[in-house]
Amino acid sequence: MLQAIKYDQGHLEILDQLQLPFVEKYIPVRNTEDSWDAIKAMKVRGAPAIAIVAMLALCSELHTLGVAGKIPNNPDETRQFITKKLAYLVTSRPTAVNLSDAARKLESLTTTQAAQPGVTGQDVAEAFIRAAQDMLGKDLEDNHRIGHNGAEWIMRNAAKAGSSQVAVLTHCNTGSLATSGYGTALGVIRSLASQSLLRHAYCTETRPYNQGSRLTAFELVHDNIPATLVTDSMAAALLADTGAGVNAIVVGADRVAANGDTANKIGTYGLAVLAKHHGVKFLVAAPLTTIDLATKSGADIVIEQRPSSEVTSIKGPREDAVSDNGVILETVCIAAPGIGVWNPAFDMTPSALIDGIITEKGVVEKGPDGQFHMAALFNDHL
Ligand code: MRU
Repeated sequence: MLQAIKYDQGHLEILDQLQLPFVEKYIPVRNTEDSWDAIKAMKVRGAPAIAIVAMLALCSELHTLGVAGKIPNNPDETRQFITKKLAYLVTSRPTAVNLSDAARKLESLTTTQAAQPGVTGQDVAEAFIRAAQDMLGKDLEDNHRIGHNGAEWIMRNAAKAGSSQVAVLTHCNTGSLATSGYGTALGVIRSLASQSLLRHAYCTETRPYNQGSRLTAFELVHDNIPATLVTDSMAAALLADTGAGVNAIVVGADRVAANGDTANKIGTYGLAVLAKHHGVKFLVAAPLTTIDLATKSGADIVIEQRPSSEVTSIKGPREDAVSDNGVILETVCIAAPGIGVWNPAFDMTPSALIDGIITEKGVVEKGPDGQFHMAALFNDHL
């Protein structure tokens, strides 16, 4: 299985997604500064993956300090150190809630641990490390459940229309590269494919960062899933094409507000509008760590703005040049110099356009009042 994140006893490595699919290179993440830079530069991206990498980077830093005998003996000093590092990490990217959710949970655990009688600073650091490591395994389990739940929901709806196999369109990258493994929306496609229920997958290019053409296409080819790449501007024509027969659009999320409004990769909103027009089901696949009940609606979600260079240039391999590892990546300008640029990384899809939210606990549909009600999902959750 493709692995974006490798962690073993204080050693953290990530697959550098700026170089994919042309160069497959793991780079070390030694501490919180490395992790902040890697997340900001999008060497690792995807809501669950950035949260996990940030927490594991702090594990690596605590591990190194522990080996050097530099963890303060006083538990409260260790707690303060962890709190400060978490506050720094959450400033790397603002829209995905998984990062601040993970930081909040681990800060609360650290505070509880530090207040126990007789604990040392090392005990507090170890409790943090154990909890952060658990997040990796929990995310993978949740993704498999999301895949299963989403596939079942899609097939139940397709059966009503007499289909025994489905075609699904997805946007951005929500797969192994965006998570601890398997993926959310791409996990649904993987689950359908593994049960021979997928007729075809379509993935959008996802400009400007091309997570679709570079990363999702890479995963689909890697897994031998029958798939076709389309540019973002082809989505309407694809949905109108009866030959393609797209049954559902499944996307991931960076933050789902309490009312179901969803912030996800720029272009998601447009796909939801198209789905409504064409009578195609529109589904958001996301773990509970992406659902933010504290945010009432999409109006309260901060949308990250990215540098204009992501729009005005594009990166790819030079065909005429070979380096030690076989490929030289080159950035080419594709816009008129001097033009102004707007580059929001995400957009907000109103809940009215969403048919279901696929979680590890099941698929949430709207109630008789036409609203999503998600609080019950969290009954036994932190
Ligand atoms: O800017 P990115 O690549 O981090 O954006 C990723 C997305 O929008 C994904 O759809 C989302 O994070 C969910 S990943 C399981």
